[in-house]
Amino acid sequence: MAFHELRHPLIEQELGILRQKDCPSHLFRQAVRRIAMLMTPYLTQDFETSTQDVETPLENVACRFLAAPVVLVPILRAGLGFLDGFLEVIPQASVAHIGLKRDEFTLQPLTYYSNLPANIADCEILLLDPMLATGGSAIEAVRLLRAAGAKRIRFACLVAAPEGVEAFAHAWPDVAIYAAALDRCLNKHGYILPGLGDAGDRLFGTWFAMSRASFSLAWYWNRSKRD
Ligand code: PRP
Ligand code: URA
Repeated sequence: MAFHELRHPLIEQELGILRQKDCPSHLFRQAVRRIAMLMTPYLTQDFETSTQDVETPLENVACRFLAAPVVLVPILRAGLGFLDGFLEVIPQASVAHIGLKRDEFTLQPLTYYSNLPANIADCEILLLDPMLATGGSAIEAVRLLRAAGAKRIRFACLVAAPEGVEAFAHAWPDVAIYAAALDRCLNKHGYILPGLGDAGDRLFGTWFAMSRASFSLAWYWNRSKRD
C-alpha cells in the first residue's frame, strides 16, 4: 500500500484554519482550495511526460508536456470544494463526477450519480474527496472508476482516519492515497477525530436539516433505480 501524508508547513497552516470550528464557510473554502493547490505537485510528480519541439522567439527547444489526459473526479458533494485548487494548477484537466452519500446510520455509501468519460482507460485519474473516514465512499468510487476502465488512479483527501486507510488499502492496494493529515480515529458516528466535522456542510454552509434532505433524495434515487 502507498499512503503519503503530505507534511508541509504551508499545508499544516491551512489545516489549522480548517480545524477551527468557528471558521466561516468562505474562509474554509479558501483554505481547502490552497491545500489542494499545494498537494497537486506531490500527486502528479510521477506523471509521464513526452517531448515536443517548441519554437521560442529565438530558436527551437524540446519541451516536456503531460503524456496522458488528466481527469479530476470529485466525489459529490464535498469533493467539489476540493476541485477548484486542483483545476487551478491543472487547468486542462477534464472533470468527471461521482455522487455518493453516506447513510448516516449504516455508514454505507449510496451512489446517486456517475458520469465518467469514455476514454478513461487512457487517463491519469485524481479522485478527490476531503474526508477518508470508514473508507466506504472512496472504495466505492474506485470500484465505479475501475468498472469504467480506469487504470491509473490516485486518491487525494484532506484528512484520513487510520480505519479508512486500512480498509481502502485492503480493497485497492494499487491505488495510492495522498492525505494532508492522518488523524487519530473515528468516533462512534463515523466522524474523524480530531477531524474537521462534516466537510460538505462546512464547505457549503448547510446544516443538519439540509443533510437529511439530501440523504432522503439519495435514498429515493437509489430506491427508484431498484424498483
Ligand atoms: C462525506 C465525505 C466522504 C464521506 C467519507 O460525504 O465527503 O464522501 O463522507 O466517509 P466514509 O469514508 O465513511 O465513506 P457525505 O456522505 O457526508 O456526503 P456530502 O459530501 O454530500 O456531505
Ligand atoms: N464525513 C465528513 O464530512 N467528516 C467526517 O469526519 C467523516 C465523514
